[in-house]
Amino acid sequence: MTEPEIHKGLAGVVVDYTAVSKVNPDTNSLLYRGYPVQELAGHRDVEDVAYLLWHGELPDATQRKEFDAFERAHRSLPDEVVAAIDLLPLSAHPMDVARTAVSVLGASHPLANDNSVDANMEKAATLFAAFPAVVAYDQRRRREQPLVEPRDDLGYSANFLWMTFGEEAPPEVVHAFDVSMVLYAEHSFNASTFTARVITSTLSDLHSAVTGAIGALKGALHGGANEAVMHTFEEIGIRKDESREDAAARAKAWMEEALAAKKKVMGFGHRVYKNGDSRVPTMKSALDAMIEYFGRDEILGLYSGLETAMGEAKNIKPNLDYPAGPTYHLMGFDTEMFTPLFIAARITGWTAHIMEQAAANSLIRPLSLYNGPDERHVDQG
Ligand code: ACO
Repeated sequence: MTEPEIHKGLAGVVVDYTAVSKVNPDTNSLLYRGYPVQELAGHRDVEDVAYLLWHGELPDATQRKEFDAFERAHRSLPDEVVAAIDLLPLSAHPMDVARTAVSVLGASHPLANDNSVDANMEKAATLFAAFPAVVAYDQRRRREQPLVEPRDDLGYSANFLWMTFGEEAPPEVVHAFDVSMVLYAEHSFNASTFTARVITSTLSDLHSAVTGAIGALKGALHGGANEAVMHTFEEIGIRKDESREDAAARAKAWMEEALAAKKKVMGFGHRVYKNGDSRVPTMKSALDAMIEYFGRDEILGLYSGLETAMGEAKNIKPNLDYPAGPTYHLMGFDTEMFTPLFIAARITGWTAHIMEQAAANSLIRPLSLYNGPDERHVDQG
């Protein structure tokens, strides 16, 4: 009998259809429901993109008005979620706080265990609306600042920044933040989305699937990379007012040493894209805008120094986490908050996949090839 072929990491394995997004590494493109992500990131905000991912079409004016009314009415955290966050020590990683908060949001939702299409749509929109307050509140309590209530006169991204920093962000910053939310929203069968689909396939509920997906996103090989990128910058040393050239030279030297020591450098490489991540040019433009806005040329030096050295040594290109990390840093988020920001955006894609999986479900249950001891027996004497 020939042994079945094993696909470690499911690399190259096609497990199902999806109409949510299409990743094409050959043309370096990413389509959300048919629309190029670069066009969406320039011309539509994250609310429109959330609607698109869930419903398959961009909203018309009436649909958008209704969606805004719903989303803005669900931005506050229920008391039990605030209480649960307050119970957690400040030593808890923000990803653990986020995972716990989503679990409590699920447990307290009146439709928690209703898996119907309407209930799932409502739970997806409620979670999208409420989650920014989790990140904002966690960021603030780490700075010993009180919770800031949401404002319903601001769009999603402007309100997110308002709740986090307690002041209105300038339009340039709101725009760059919104671009990051759109680019992070969806990416086909990545590890966290697949996790959400596996959980959904057992007929479990939407919040359980998202909670599991957060666990998968946390790892440094996936979403945790945007935090890890910033740790790299910090390890090299961020010296405000250093020239771009000097920062680039130090970054290059750091990378050469890291690669000589056979280290994996987070923010580079991708399982699907081998010639560059389709989202990077758009995110890099947003980073450039922030570098210019805040006058921080040394960040560009560190960025290009690492990128050039990695390109020269291994021809490995940056992924989305690489420009996203320093962008969030310049906006004023603590480094540990970066992956929770990824969650905020990806809730849209995860929940779109959860609903797609539920609509044409088949239990996801692969096989394994046993390589343990041959059959043996307990001593019955
Ligand atoms: N730094 C150094 N070397 C790398 C990197 C990296 N970031 N990425 C890949 N390589 C090298 C590997 O060491 C390996 O070299 P070898 O053949 O000499 O052993 C080769 O490139 C292939 O790498 P694999 O890890 O086998 O490729 P795979 O497709 O499994 O990995 C992955 C993709 C996990 C993303 C990998 O590139 C990586 O670990 N990158 C860093 C983590 C990261 O940035 N993750 C974010 C992903 S994107 C996102 O979540 C938005």
